[in-house]
Amino acid sequence: MKTIIRNTIVLLALLGSFFQVNAEQNFIYQDSVLKDENGKTAKVFVGVPVTIIEEMGKEVKVSIKGFMFNDELYSSKTKELLMAKLDKGFKVNKLSANEFELVGTLAKELTSNDPVDVWGEHEEFYFEMCTQCHAGPEVNHHSMMEWEAIFGTMKGFAKLDEEEASYLLRYLKANSSDGFIKTKH
Ligand code: HEC
Repeated sequence: MKTIIRNTIVLLALLGSFFQVNAEQNFIYQDSVLKDENGKTAKVFVGVPVTIIEEMGKEVKVSIKGFMFNDELYSSKTKELLMAKLDKGFKVNKLSANEFELVGTLAKELTSNDPVDVWGEHEEFYFEMCTQCHAGPEVNHHSMMEWEAIFGTMKGFAKLDEEEASYLLRYLKANSSDGFIKTKH
């Protein structure tokens, strides 16, 4: 009996954390501008995970956490994936030695809780460009670093220009095994 109760509690706790993560995890839908409480701005980029702190009609107040280097916020200390670029004076909260938090508001419609929705156009372009010679590899089977290396060769194979290359590399990194979307754990 005791084990059943304990297992049930563990299960409920697991379910609870699962649903909580799902309910709270939202993403920046497209490159957007975030405003802090003083009206200062920061550019935030497609796919960045946000936590919604408060719903305010057509706007939402969100929190974005990452690693600051000068005026740029990255998803890791290795600076592989840019999350935000701060304009002068945007207020940041320091969480630990390297970790910082941006808090600001933007239109609710610029966020989405559906990664497929967020990355749909990128994904189409990926399949168009990268399945001419082989099947499209599972994006989350490689890490950001691996994608960077593989992509060095493949962008030439696919004859991408600079803009197309950075558009696609961002998609690959964001959806990689250590990217923004951590649902497959
Ligand atoms: C012109 C043909 C061609 C195109 C277009 C192409 N590839 Fe490849 N790809 C290859 C060949 C050939 C290999 C195997 C040889 C190699 O690894 O260099 C390969 C291998 C790979 C691998 C496996 C590498 C490894 O080390 O496991 C990945 C991942 C990959 N391609 C991704 C892509 C992506 C992403 C694109 C689109 C930007 C792309 N490919 C476009 C020809 C192509």
